[in-house]
Amino acid sequence: MKTKNINPSRFMFPFLTLFMCLSLESRVCFAVDTISTNQSLSGNQTIVSAGGVFRLGFFRPGNSSNYYIGMWFNKVPQLTTVWVANRDTPVRDIYSSVLIISDGNLVLFNESQVPIWSTNVSTSSDISSSVVAVLLDDGNLVLRDGLNSSTILWQSFDHPTDTWLPGSKLRFDKRTNQSQPLISWKSHDDPAPGLFTFEIDPAVTNQVSIVWNKSQLYWFSGTWDQRTMSFSLVPEMRMTSLSNSTYNFSYVSEENESYFIYYLYNSSTIAKLFMDISGQLKYMSWLENIEQWLVYFSQPRQQCGVYALCGAFGSCSENQPFCNCLTGFQPTSQQNWDQQVYSGGCVRKTKLQCSNASVGAGRRDQFVESGYTTFPTHPQNSMAVSSMECKSTCLKNCSCTAYAFENNQCSIWVGDLLNLQQLGQDDTTGNVLYIKLAASEIDTESSPANKKRVIVVAIAVATGLLLSLVMFRIMKRRRAIISTELGNDLLVAFGYKDLEKATKNFSEKMGKGGFGSVFKGTLPDGGIIAVKMLESINQGEKQFRAEISTIGKINHVNLVRLRGFCSEGSRKLLVYDFMPKGSLDRHLFRGIDSEPLDWKTRYQIALGAARDFGLAKLLGREFSRALTTMRGTVGYLAPEWISGVAITPKSDVYSFGMMLLELVSGRRNFEHTSDGEATFFPIWVAQQVNEGTDLLKLLDSRLNGNANSEEVSRICKIACWCIQDHEIQRPWMSQVVQVLEGILDVSLPPIPRFLQEISNEEEHTVTFTDKTISVS
Ligand SMILES: *[C@@H]1O[C@H](CO)[C@@H](O)[C@H](O)[C@H]1NC(C)=O
Ligand SMILES: *[C@@H]1O[C@H](CO)[C@@H](O)[C@H](O)[C@H]1NC(C)=O
Ligand SMILES: *[C@@H]1O[C@H](CO)[C@@H](O)[C@H](O)[C@H]1NC(C)=O
Ligand SMILES: *[C@@H]1O[C@H](CO)[C@@H](O)[C@H](O)[C@H]1NC(C)=O
Ligand SMILES: *[C@@H]1O[C@H](CO)[C@@H](O)[C@H](O)[C@H]1NC(C)=O
Ligand SMILES: *[C@@H]1O[C@H](CO)[C@@H](O)[C@H](O)[C@H]1NC(C)=O
Ligand SMILES: *[C@@H]1O[C@H](CO)[C@@H](O)[C@H](O)[C@H]1NC(C)=O
Ligand SMILES: *[C@@H]1O[C@H](CO)[C@@H](O)[C@H](O)[C@H]1NC(C)=O
Ligand SMILES: *[C@@H]1O[C@H](CO)[C@@H](O)[C@H](O)[C@H]1NC(C)=O
Ligand SMILES: *[C@@H]1O[C@H](CO)[C@@H](O)[C@H](O)[C@H]1NC(C)=O
Ligand SMILES: *[C@@H]1O[C@H](CO)[C@@H](O)[C@H](O)[C@H]1NC(C)=O
Ligand SMILES: *[C@@H]1O[C@H](CO)[C@@H](O)[C@H](O)[C@H]1NC(C)=O
Repeated sequence: MKTKNINPSRFMFPFLTLFMCLSLESRVCFAVDTISTNQSLSGNQTIVSAGGVFRLGFFRPGNSSNYYIGMWFNKVPQLTTVWVANRDTPVRDIYSSVLIISDGNLVLFNESQVPIWSTNVSTSSDISSSVVAVLLDDGNLVLRDGLNSSTILWQSFDHPTDTWLPGSKLRFDKRTNQSQPLISWKSHDDPAPGLFTFEIDPAVTNQVSIVWNKSQLYWFSGTWDQRTMSFSLVPEMRMTSLSNSTYNFSYVSEENESYFIYYLYNSSTIAKLFMDISGQLKYMSWLENIEQWLVYFSQPRQQCGVYALCGAFGSCSENQPFCNCLTGFQPTSQQNWDQQVYSGGCVRKTKLQCSNASVGAGRRDQFVESGYTTFPTHPQNSMAVSSMECKSTCLKNCSCTAYAFENNQCSIWVGDLLNLQQLGQDDTTGNVLYIKLAASEIDTESSPANKKRVIVVAIAVATGLLLSLVMFRIMKRRRAIISTELGNDLLVAFGYKDLEKATKNFSEKMGKGGFGSVFKGTLPDGGIIAVKMLESINQGEKQFRAEISTIGKINHVNLVRLRGFCSEGSRKLLVYDFMPKGSLDRHLFRGIDSEPLDWKTRYQIALGAARDFGLAKLLGREFSRALTTMRGTVGYLAPEWISGVAITPKSDVYSFGMMLLELVSGRRNFEHTSDGEATFFPIWVAQQVNEGTDLLKLLDSRLNGNANSEEVSRICKIACWCIQDHEIQRPWMSQVVQVLEGILDVSLPPIPRFLQEISNEEEHTVTFTDKTISVS
């Protein structure tokens, strides 16, 4: 490094006289966007770009005690970092560390005044005294000659961390044959380079790809098609060319470099594309009115499409938590596991006998069945001709950890089992793997194969889930305060003391979700309740009550029933019926232990939901986020969510249509059927409706055709109208109700083009057809 140790007194003077921002939160900031020779940045000081878009200063990620120099969105209340300078050389004490211009470079000195990060460019001595660092409104930190702003010496856009901002290049340097990568953070607490890299594919420079540990490519975009303005394997991008888009994306190939670049049409849109610690590339946009980040797309779409996400001896499933250790194994680090950093994988609970010969008298190692999984990477073929022989081959080899015998072929695995994915019970593409364990482990495992996970259906989650069980129970009420428009359904205002008592002083915590923790409780009348304690609700009493009555109106749709609330000063709680049977999801989708819901109930749910339905505001807040995060896919949202034009009640109609189709089929719309039928269900329905075939064949096969065919036909038709591309074609919710009630008839719906595009692409795309989503 060019810079030398410097004497603190050299910068202490300006440091004391030129304060910029006294507080990160403070709105009364000097609008300083520049660090010049006479200014430095230390402690909680920050600089802000001229238009107030970005802010730069020390920040502390998550629960870490380390500090970094970073840049974040100034107008977003939740700290959202887009760039980090010293990503792997943190400081502890921000008051004795300083970011300063030194010898023509921007340099970060740590507590001992040792330079730990620098822009590290050589500047001629004639300009080095006038060098300044300026934070621009596009998120570029530029080091330039203070006397001539067109002389740019260094810019953060050339040194991205995990985020690709609009207006910056994702570059490939033809002279060095190297890409400029985005590298994920290690964890939410640690911005140091993690395992996942997003970059221009050096072998195919008009394609982008994601690579694990700089070695294993697990996702690629397909080549850029200038005509459709999209990557061949990312048809989602295309919808922006169908409707009004929020961004334009282009590929440029020049003599010395090629690059991708995108711009947002509306400069007030806050959005970013970044390589997430989950191993997925995500594009998200800040929705100001609901104060939430909305993830528009993730690639690969499915979490288990990320290579070796769960590390050695871990197994990935599409349900949260995504990673579990194989039977007989435990997380290498529970702490990392809790932070959703799974790459460390799992270790044996008990050593194998084989590698522990000194014990001698111990019992031989045994095998446990894995349940349906994908094969881990790097199988070795063995000559064994029978299952017994295959097993004994593995038993004899101390490094062998698993075997499989399928189609008369014996495969064994030596060493770590990587990239294993747990599949649903009815997924016939799965294989059964036999995993070697110490004999004592087998005795202690009560149900080795396919252990069912108990999913606590926390109300917090249910709040966001569209599909939660609708219960038409009549509740006893104590004090009625708010009368909602649901007719005689009233909400109870509980006293805080009553809830404290009911929950035994909030002792039984069931879970934690977006807006607070949920506790189980029992009312004096014996009713079991779930109490959600809302956190950081910065709103007045009137607003809170307005919100409550809103939730009250739609609770049949997406929640277990809201019974009442408590609002005493800053204490805001919501009281729900406790649902021991779990959510609709579990009954509707193919669960392990649940009975499928009969047709009559499904129709009631559809009708009940349709009548209560219709509040974009609340849905926007909790539900859209849940949809994108839980479903991880964009197809459940109306195209306008993606293109960014105004969200209206008709956008909810779209999602409602998708839900109706799931009620019919009993599976996720994006799930592939077990018989290998690749056609995307909503499109299939639209086609069948148009061909006038018997729609009963669309019905969940577990119902054995037990349904009213007239009702099935009505639901399918109206659902197809709900999922039309253009809002204007979609019905109003009141019309949906009338159709479901049989009062109104509908004509044949056209086949929605947007969904068809997604579906057409899916048929040729290996990367998307990962595996069936299983629900347990
Ligand atoms: C600064 O650049 C020089 C060469 O230009 C290189 O040797 C040195 O490692 C760099 N230092 C840092 C901290 O990047
Ligand atoms: C920022 O630093 C100043 C001076 O050290 C201090 O008075 C102020 O409380 C700090 N603000 C925050 C938010 O920490
Ligand atoms: C820095 O301060 C010195 C003396 O206070 C002054 O002469 C010089 O012009 C200043 N430089 C800049 C870039 O403001
Ligand atoms: C920080 O730590 C607290 C308590 O240990 C925990 O509840 C919280 O989830 C952690 N936050 C993050 C972002 O890890
Ligand atoms: C500052 O950085 C140097 C070099 O990395 C390191 O040796 C020193 O311990 C650091 N000082 C502190 C207080 O961490
Ligand atoms: C500023 O720098 C640019 C390029 O570095 C140069 O072409 C221009 O003449 C300079 N302007 C002045 C006023 O020095
Ligand atoms: C650049 O790298 C790619 C992929 O590693 C390789 O196929 C290609 O031959 C290289 N080109 C040059 C000019 O080195
Ligand atoms: C990543 O690769 C390096 C060697 O290139 C290896 O040492 C390291 O263990 C790998 N990381 C994981 C998580 O496998
Ligand atoms: C885009 O928006 C403009 C004005 O907002 C409108 O006139 C135009 O029809 C829209 N185009 C499409 C394809 O929706
Ligand atoms: C994309 O948008 C930017 C800014 O609006 C504009 O400068 C650029 O020409 C556009 N590029 C294409 C290919 O449309
Ligand atoms: C490409 O690089 C060469 C040599 O470094 C340089 O002479 C040329 O001007 C560059 N071309 C462009 C378009 O920047
Ligand atoms: C740009 O976005 C802002 C905030 O989202 C919005 O208020 C404004 O109407 C948008 N402008 C246009 C031209 O769409």
